Parts: sequence; structure tokens; C-alpha cells
Amino acid sequence: MTILVTGGSGYIGSHTVLALQEAGHDVVVMDNLSNSSEESLRRVAQLSGKPVPFHQVDLTDPEGLDRLFSAYDFTAVIHFAGLKAVGESASIPLEYYYRNVAGTINLLRAMDAHDVRSIVFSSSATVYGEHNPIPYIEKMEIGASNPYGRTKEQIEDILSDLSAADERWSVALLRYFNPVGAHPSGLIGEDPQGIPNNLVPYIAQVAVGRREKLMVFGGDYDTPDGTCLRDYIHVVDLAEGHLAALNHIASRTGAFRWNLGSGRGSSVLEVLKSFEQAVGRPLPYEITGRRQGDLPAFWADPSSALADLGWSTTRSLDEMCEDHWRWQKNNPNGYAS
Ligand code: NAD
Ligand code: UD1
Repeated sequence: MTILVTGGSGYIGSHTVLALQEAGHDVVVMDNLSNSSEESLRRVAQLSGKPVPFHQVDLTDPEGLDRLFSAYDFTAVIHFAGLKAVGESASIPLEYYYRNVAGTINLLRAMDAHDVRSIVFSSSATVYGEHNPIPYIEKMEIGASNPYGRTKEQIEDILSDLSAADERWSVALLRYFNPVGAHPSGLIGEDPQGIPNNLVPYIAQVAVGRREKLMVFGGDYDTPDGTCLRDYIHVVDLAEGHLAALNHIASRTGAFRWNLGSGRGSSVLEVLKSFEQAVGRPLPYEITGRRQGDLPAFWADPSSALADLGWSTTRSLDEMCEDHWRWQKNNPNGYAS
């Protein structure tokens, strides 16, 4: 199989490219490098022993996509490319709808024109919105509460409509919970630009001395220790989930949706403690006000992925923190170090 991975030089993409190569697939990456660098793919090649063909193409460039699909005979597409910051999406919604939704339509048109009709799409737990009880189950009514989440919801709808209209399409909608960690080699990992929005990259930058202390957003939630609960998932488990989904849809048509999470909630203070254990010393933090839009607690019901794909997470929170720390320690400034 030759798999096109859009956004393949990014955080989750690079780990998935490695997993695909290790499973014996040929992989081609396209990315506009707006939030990543080609160095991640050089490191993937170092780990797999195989080069990673790379094309700098933007989803908003239909001619560029057409040239790419003319140059290869793809079996399927794994589609990671897009913008992903919730806060930013509320300030520049047009950019989010243009790049994520219109960009995906361009990709789907190129796929259809070139007879490639298998796609695995990066959706998010954020599509469950604010109204659903936990744990989240795939059959629940979705309804995202921010523009980023609505781009994911709209793309899910487009892909579902497409597969309903044309039975040749095979679609996997993967709803990720909170991906953290890095490949255990410490060679590839998450390299956020600017101040990290997410918890674990922020803690990692405190540990390496790039940030003074962690601000814990809210200590008065109705949870066991007063801080929010989330379902953290090791990025290598997540990458393996993509392979399982790809294998499943290889012999089926239709649209499928799966939660990719562990099924367990961990609090902000539990994550901090686990990271401190990995680092071997306490890390400075302060409990501050709540962050707008945060839910007190959510986690996945991952039983459909287990039943349908035979996939479940195998790596613990401690492994996530140890691996994330190895990456950050060896690369204090990410791929620029
Ligand atoms: P990332 O930013 O590291 O990777 C996304 C990649 O897409 C980047 O390399 C970026 O340069 C590229 N890209 C962005 N816009 C593009 C465009 N218009 N054309 C071509 N390339 C473009 O992010 P990630 O954490 O690896 O996330 C991958 C996917 O998973 C995203 O779709 C994201 O929304 C989704 N997701 C991520 C998380 C998370 O916590 N990381 C959670 C749920 C869902
Ligand atoms: C965020 C996104 C979500 C995305 C997910 C994974 C929002 C509202 N949602 O979710 O769409 O799928 O990331 O990338 O942004 N925290 C701190 N201090 C920090 C950073 C975070 O206390 O400096 C807390 C947060 O309040 C939260 C937990 O840590 O309780 C996890 O935060 P984060 O990593 O941003 O993930 P989510 O909020 O779950």
C-alpha cells in the first residue's frame, strides 16, 4: 500500500509515518510546514531506515494536490493537516474554516478525481461539546462549542455524506482524546511554536527551564483533587490506532467513527506528579483561575475501537511522561536544538 499522509511532518503525523513504515507500507508526506519542519521526517527516516518522500503542498492549492495525486498511485490517505488551536480559532475563524474545511474539500475532490476513496481523518473529542455525559460514546449527538471543533464536526459531516452518496468510499473518523508523549527513542516528539496551549508540553518546558512555572487552571472543580480530568493517550498508541483503522477500512466501505482514548481520566495534578517523577524533582506550579471553555472532566468509552479494531491503549501515564521528558531533555528547543 502507498499511503499519503497529510500533515505528516507534524506531531501525530510523524509518529504515524514511522508506524506505517515499520508495518511495511510505502508512505508519502505532504505538508505546508506552517507548524512543523522537515527535520521530523529526517528523524523518522533515521529510525525506520527508509527515506520519507516529502512534498510541500498546501491544502488550499488544488493544482498542487492534483500534481501530487498524478505523481503517485495512492491506496489511502491519512489526513492530519490542519490548524488546531481552540483559542486561536475563536479569533480567526475564517482561517480555520478555509484551511480545515475548504482545504479538506480540495483534498477529497483530488482523491475522487484520482480514484482514491479511502480516508482516515483526525477528528477530536472536542466534537462532543459541552452537553454530553461522560464517558463519551460514538453514538452520542455531537455539537462542538468552538470554531475549531466545528471544523472537525463539519468535516465529519462532509465525509459521512460522501460515503452515503457513493458507496465506493471508506471513511474512518478518529476522535482523539489528549495525545501526549513521544517516541521512546527521544528523537521525535511535539514541538509547539510559542507558548504551549496544552498541559504536558507546558510542563515539559517548565522542566527544561523555558517557562518559570505551571499555572494550573482551576483547583475548585467538582473532581477528586479539584483539578480537571482528561483522557491522556500516548502518541505511539494513537499512531497504532491509525494502522488498525486503516486495516479495518481496507476491506470495507462506509463511514465509521471511533474514539481513540484510554477510558481513564487523570487530573492536572496527577499528570504533574507523574512528570515530576520522570524528571526526578519537584516542578514549580501555582493554582490560578479557571480557563474559559474548560470542561471539568471527560474521557472516552473506547470499547468500540477494541471490539471493531482490536485496538486499545497499552502505555501508562508514567510512560507518556517519561517518553515526553526524554524527547524534551534531549531536544530542549525542539527540532531547532
Ligand atoms: P501539528 O500541527 O503538529 O500537525 C498538523 C500539520 O498540518 C502541521 O505539520 C502543519 O504544518 C500542517 N498543516 C496545517 N495546515 C496545513 C495546510 N493548509 N496545508 C498543508 N499542511 C498543513 O498537529 P498534531 O497535534 O499532529 O495534530 C494533527 C491532527 O490531529 C490535526 O488535524 C489536529 O486538529 C488533530 N488533533 C490533534 C490533537 C492534539 O492534541 N494534538 C487532538 C485532537 C485532534
Ligand atoms: C484542548 C482542546 C481540545 C484538544 C485538546 C488536545 C480546549 C478547550 N480544548 O483540550 O480541543 O482536542 O486540547 O490537544 O483548548 N491546563 C493547565 N495549565 C496549562 C495548560 C492546561 O492547568 O498551562 C489544564 C487545562 O485546564 C485542562 C488540562 O490541563 O484541564 C488539559 O489541558 P489541554 O492540554 O489544553 O487539553 P484540553 O483542555 O483537554
